[in-house]
Amino acid sequence: MTEQSGESNPGKLQLRLHTRQFQVFDSPKRFRVLVAGRRFGKTELALAEIARAAKAAPDQLVWYVAPSEKLAKRIIWRRLKTITQTLWAQKPSEQELAIQLTNGSAILVKGGFNPDSLRGEGLDFVVLDEAADLKPDAWTYSLRPSLADRQGRALFIGTPKGRNHFYNYFELAQSNPEDWASFQFTTEEGGIVQKSELECAGRAMDANVFRQEFEAQFSAIGSYRAYLSFDREANIRDVRFEPSAPLIWSLDFNIDPMCMLLMQRIGDKVYVLEEIAVRSSGNTTEEACRIFVQRAAPYLKIAGRIHGALDVHIYGDASGHQRRTSATATDWNLIRQFFATIHKGAIQISCRQANVNPHIRDRVNCVNARLRNYFGEPQLFISPGCKELIRDLEEVCFTLDSTGAATNELDKSDRHRTHLSDALGYYLSQIFPLRGTFHL
Ligand SMILES: Nc1ncnc2c1ncn2[C@@H]1O[C@H](COP(=O)(O)OP(=O)(O)O)[C@@H](O)[C@H]1O
Ligand SMILES: [Mg+2]
Repeated sequence: MTEQSGESNPGKLQLRLHTRQFQVFDSPKRFRVLVAGRRFGKTELALAEIARAAKAAPDQLVWYVAPSEKLAKRIIWRRLKTITQTLWAQKPSEQELAIQLTNGSAILVKGGFNPDSLRGEGLDFVVLDEAADLKPDAWTYSLRPSLADRQGRALFIGTPKGRNHFYNYFELAQSNPEDWASFQFTTEEGGIVQKSELECAGRAMDANVFRQEFEAQFSAIGSYRAYLSFDREANIRDVRFEPSAPLIWSLDFNIDPMCMLLMQRIGDKVYVLEEIAVRSSGNTTEEACRIFVQRAAPYLKIAGRIHGALDVHIYGDASGHQRRTSATATDWNLIRQFFATIHKGAIQISCRQANVNPHIRDRVNCVNARLRNYFGEPQLFISPGCKELIRDLEEVCFTLDSTGAATNELDKSDRHRTHLSDALGYYLSQIFPLRGTFHL
């Protein structure tokens, strides 16, 4: 925490603000945009701002808006009730997410999912939290007009998400200093997250994600290419089988084309030896096993000579758990059966399926982090023979929404794309998951 700090609200509603929060709090501008890293203390500042606005004069109408009502409630509702409790006119409405104060002011918590529900009149102050995830229409068509009759004020707060509408507000603020003020702070400047913790996050994250999430930079990450950290120079190299490490077999249970990767992990580094992408109709899990055995034969020979057997760790899409490819067994059971009967002894398998698939963004970020972390170190090396995987890393994109912003879905319109990079992501996200503490 920085030593200097400010009192947000003398009197009963005291919240301590750190120096940077206070800088924003202290700005008299009508419209303010705060861009800051995760856990900077943005929402805490929103609380102080809301309390001040509601107390400033009688009969004020103050709104807090987050991308959805569920999220809004989760982020702020409990804290908001706690800090305003001494001023309640009556018990807050859990239904309306509304707090009436004795001075006639009202604080309402809202979700911006449906911009029409945000239309209202006579707003005095609104906070738009997680503004990069809010629908752009929420401001333009609903909130901005509602501020007109009472000269209401607004505070946008958020962490960047590429150069989407939140970036536009930030730019707008910079080019209209009469009415607007803009602030940009890193997580470190907030002083809440320790430096050692940030360094640790930097090691496990790729530079683009780190810059966006913790340094509050509007980077190209929101642009639509998924694997921005891939660099031919750094990530492609001749990869040799290391007999002392298990062979990793990762597969996407897609039928056509059937996609698998053969890899090895040594410490924090991952080596992709081979890709297998076989087109055919009616491929079965059993056939995947047969193809695997064929391709793994040279490794089996080397490992067999040294250790008597080849250790194989199998990873894949969690849906392999549930989706039935035969009347009697799941994909995973078919794999177990195959190796129990056919290659008993020579190939020792261990199935390591995840219970749930991670979010697509998280999975992509895990791959990016391994391709190149914040310190520029590559930890994922791909054999030049993996041509389809390399194409995936260069070409796979997120789809775009109607405003041109990248969504969280990968573009699957080319059916050759994404399967191999998905298989890579299933493995990496299981072994090197992104640290949960930094997820909202
Ligand atoms: N000025 C402050 N002093 C002490 N703790 C704070 C301060 N500002 C925020 N915090 C705490 O730090 C954590 C992160 O703050 P939060 O406002 O949720 O961050 P953000 O919204 O930027 O991710 C919360 O537990 C919050 O209570
Ligand atoms: Mg927050």
